[in-house]
Amino acid sequence: TDLVKIEEIIPSSVLKVKYKGMRANRTAVNALGRMLEDAIADGVSNWQVSSAYRGYADQQALVEDSVAQYRKNNPDWSRNRALSATYKTVAPAGTSEHMTGLAFDITVPGTIFKGTKEQIWLHEHCWDYGFIIRYQEDKESITGYLAECWHIRYVGLPHSITMRDRNLCLEEYLGVV
Ligand code: DAL
Ligand code: ZN
Repeated sequence: TDLVKIEEIIPSSVLKVKYKGMRANRTAVNALGRMLEDAIADGVSNWQVSSAYRGYADQQALVEDSVAQYRKNNPDWSRNRALSATYKTVAPAGTSEHMTGLAFDITVPGTIFKGTKEQIWLHEHCWDYGFIIRYQEDKESITGYLAECWHIRYVGLPHSITMRDRNLCLEEYLGVV
């Protein structure tokens, strides 16, 4: 609920949107804007959002694109095998947290993001603004997804700080695990 267009809240001098009209939850967008303004004050300024809110059909299309790609590269693979591989990196439609409007994929254009000073800054500081790095390497067996250093999820304060200090992923924090 309460989805807003990112470019109407955060100026393009602070954050580039990969696709015009991308939306996300208002509270999360406001927190993102505050965070990136502080990053820029620290001299870390090359920020792009490449995905934010995705509806059910958007997610279904990502799943089908991935399945098609796997089966093109591996002609002997069944649909089920391609789906299993897909679900390591793409959530089944109806289960992605992008559908909540609280998640963002943050990138630096022309890079794989990992190892950029933006990625390192985000990893260190996002917690102070209510965000978590949702899919981390040491939690792959719990989250079920391969690590994604670009995917942040707004949980709000003080939750993000507690999760950082106790090294808990969202499943652990919520007591699911
Ligand atoms: N890439 C993450 C897991 C998603 O599709 O929500
Ligand atoms: Zn994501």
